[in-house]
Amino acid sequence: MNPSVQIKIAILGANGQLGQTFSQIATEFPSCIFEFYSKEQLNILDKNALIDTFSKSDYQYLINCAAYTNVDRAETESELCMAINADSCQHIIEAIKDTAIRLIHFSTDYLYHQYGGFALQETDKPNPQGVYARSKLAGEHIIRNSNIPALILRTSWVYSPFGHNFVKTMLRLGNERATIQVVHDQFGAPTYAKDLARAVLSIIILTERNPQFINTFNDTYNFANEGLITWYDFAKQVIAIQGLPCQVQPIVSKDYPTAAKRPPWSLLAKHKIKHHFHLEIPHWYASLKACLQEIQSTIIE
Ligand SMILES: NC(=O)c1ccc[n+]([C@@H]2O[C@H](COP(=O)([O-])OP(=O)(O)OC[C@H]3O[C@@H](n4cnc5c(N)ncnc54)[C@H](OP(=O)(O)O)[C@@H]3O)[C@@H](O)[C@H]2O)c1
Repeated sequence: MNPSVQIKIAILGANGQLGQTFSQIATEFPSCIFEFYSKEQLNILDKNALIDTFSKSDYQYLINCAAYTNVDRAETESELCMAINADSCQHIIEAIKDTAIRLIHFSTDYLYHQYGGFALQETDKPNPQGVYARSKLAGEHIIRNSNIPALILRTSWVYSPFGHNFVKTMLRLGNERATIQVVHDQFGAPTYAKDLARAVLSIIILTERNPQFINTFNDTYNFANEGLITWYDFAKQVIAIQGLPCQVQPIVSKDYPTAAKRPPWSLLAKHKIKHHFHLEIPHWYASLKACLQEIQSTIIE
């Protein structure tokens, strides 16, 4: 690839936290030209709109950040959740199947649902519990069973200055309350959306410049920040770094019932993505500090 030739990338779900993060870091990647589509501009339930937008387009990559992500509400809105997270993958495939577009799609730690021990490998047998987890696995199957070139990234505990996420909730509660209770029996690693978005764009550039990476691209990978913690550890660090006068108390999951079952163990093995794409992934603590600094310097809602 001639480095002066720009890569055309379309982003779906542009107003979600990952979608907004791509917009935030776009200027770090001058070799890419982005077009952002919010739900209002392009609803992925609308197959014809997807076909109109992409079937004759000259995009090289389509990054699908659109998803149904309310895991608890999904238990009572299963049809909508399945339509957005699974059926829409078929619509996207229909729209790009006769183009040169490569797809990047995000999936979740929820589909592993195992009980600890070793880092979860991409080849581990899925054990999805709940509607959201099943819908994301179904979406993956639809994409893998199609012949389109696609990279599927399974990630966990995503946070950013945008939208709703655990870090922002802890900041709010830490300012409002004297104590908060957080589960200490669910393990995993957080993912700073900026690290994930930067990794995606680095993979795209590497693949464009080195045709031998094209086969490597068509695969499923885990991505999260380095390290292993519980939600309780994570909350404690948010409160400590911000210096908030709030006590974080550990509780067990059975004392914090939720409509959807949470995976008790979400440590994603990352050696495959690091090795295949020569990536270095920051440790969760460094990324949390970076995000908190960003939140402090800009009040973003
Ligand atoms: N957040 C996490 O902790 C986490 C963990 C693991 C994996 N993931 C995966 O990572 C990806 C990005 O997640 P995120 O945290 O950025 O989610 P998010 O903040 O909820 O963003 C999802 C976006 O998709 C939009 N959307 C929903 N239905 C749509 C439709 N029919 N057509 C077009 N857009 C639609 C949403 O709009 P509305 O809000 O207006 O509905 C929202 O802007 C998803 O695939 C998710 O499953 C997330």
